[in-house]
Amino acid sequence: MAKRTTNPNKTDGGLVVIANRMPVRRTAKNKPGEWETSPGGLVTALSPMLRERGGGWVGWDGAAGRKAVPPFLHENIRIRPVSLSAKEFDTFYAGFANKTLWPLYHDSIREPQFHRRWWWPYHRVNERFADAAAQVAGKDDLVWVHDYQLQLVPGMLRERRPETRIGFFLHIPFPPEELFAKIPWRTPILEAMLGADVVGFQTRLAAQNFSRAARRFTDARGSDRLLRFAGRRVVVDAFPISIDVNLYEGMARDPEIAVEAERFRASMNGRRIILCVDRLDYTKGIDIRLRAFEELLSRGRYTAEDCVLIQIAVPTRESVDDYAELRDDVERLVGRINGTHSVKQHVPVHYIYGGLPTRDLIARYCAADVMMVTPFRDGMNLVAKEYCMTRIRQDGVLVLSEFAGAALELKQALLVNPFDVDGIASAMEDALEMTHAEQRKRMTTLRRTVRARSVHDWADGFISRLRES
Ligand code: F6P
Repeated sequence: MAKRTTNPNKTDGGLVVIANRMPVRRTAKNKPGEWETSPGGLVTALSPMLRERGGGWVGWDGAAGRKAVPPFLHENIRIRPVSLSAKEFDTFYAGFANKTLWPLYHDSIREPQFHRRWWWPYHRVNERFADAAAQVAGKDDLVWVHDYQLQLVPGMLRERRPETRIGFFLHIPFPPEELFAKIPWRTPILEAMLGADVVGFQTRLAAQNFSRAARRFTDARGSDRLLRFAGRRVVVDAFPISIDVNLYEGMARDPEIAVEAERFRASMNGRRIILCVDRLDYTKGIDIRLRAFEELLSRGRYTAEDCVLIQIAVPTRESVDDYAELRDDVERLVGRINGTHSVKQHVPVHYIYGGLPTRDLIARYCAADVMMVTPFRDGMNLVAKEYCMTRIRQDGVLVLSEFAGAALELKQALLVNPFDVDGIASAMEDALEMTHAEQRKRMTTLRRTVRARSVHDWADGFISRLRES
């Protein structure tokens, strides 16, 4: 790759990432100007490349209605913050991104709402990102746009910079044509996505859904993998995302984490541990899973003296009503199960509303006998992959939803229909009863599968396709 230019506001020959979130967050002291690297997978995947080769990142600064943060340099990454007004937070982020697109793209698990008063701010904010991208990206840079919040950016940037190589990756599912068809702005969304040279998805099915919708609602022609649009070729393909496998495996081998895992196990008094870790999102199937655990306890083979379900629910999008309602439902359910099924001093569900520091989370993965990942629909689901990489003794059982992208790769998990209360309860029983030999057989293959493709391979794979395009 070429060197960076001397212009401090521009990069050249490197990579410019456009994502709704910046790769940094304010430090705990929350002092203006003090930033630390965020923990997310995307940042882990791309930061080394950006640090080495130089690059830029355009992202929302995370606040609403505050004064714009000027561009700054963080570990050799040029950060170009984009600000949102309080109104834009409500309409672009909480509204169009999270009450229109998010539910619709997840099989309409909640009724998506279509409002013009949200569409136009979505359009305007995407334009602001595209303007920032055009300012930051040098002539030879690759630009990689991420996710459903910024689907219009590829087309908008193409208008501003016709020669730039632009990639787009959707982290969440892309819905079947008949669901996507409901969006009143379906054609401009698809046309804008087709502004990219490479449009990437988590699964082949999502890629196919996109190509079919594009052929139906735009002038694009061609096959599921290669479309022609506005005189250009657009590559459409699946690039399943992963985790930093060495990081998770390495941490699981850390003696301090092993001690914490043992301490945690001991605190459960020998009970079998069923672990669930999710953002508190209605797509994650938390309520049905809790009902399934209630069913398991009602069947009587297991009581709260034998097993405990730990639900770590990470707060998210709390300003959106559906999320607040879900929290109430889940907490009511936890109360009901604990009220009915506690035995002596043993409470069957331990519910934690909040995130855990990564090291503590890994200690819990290491301690858990069973990991339940049962989303109703999920683009990929990295918790499932993280659990496998921390199982360095090749034991433990992963129960996984058929409707998570990860299920296409993690075939040795116990696959369940996340809507089937009885089926999930039976899978919990099967998991608790699985022999060590069977656990080992399955987990060895699961770990081999995850190890074969780390998040760095994902990023390299996408970028080389973009460079070839
Ligand atoms: O998968 C979609 C996604 O945007 C992730 O990239 C992110 O971790 C998560 O949802 C959280 O979303 P938000 O930015 O709305 O907090």
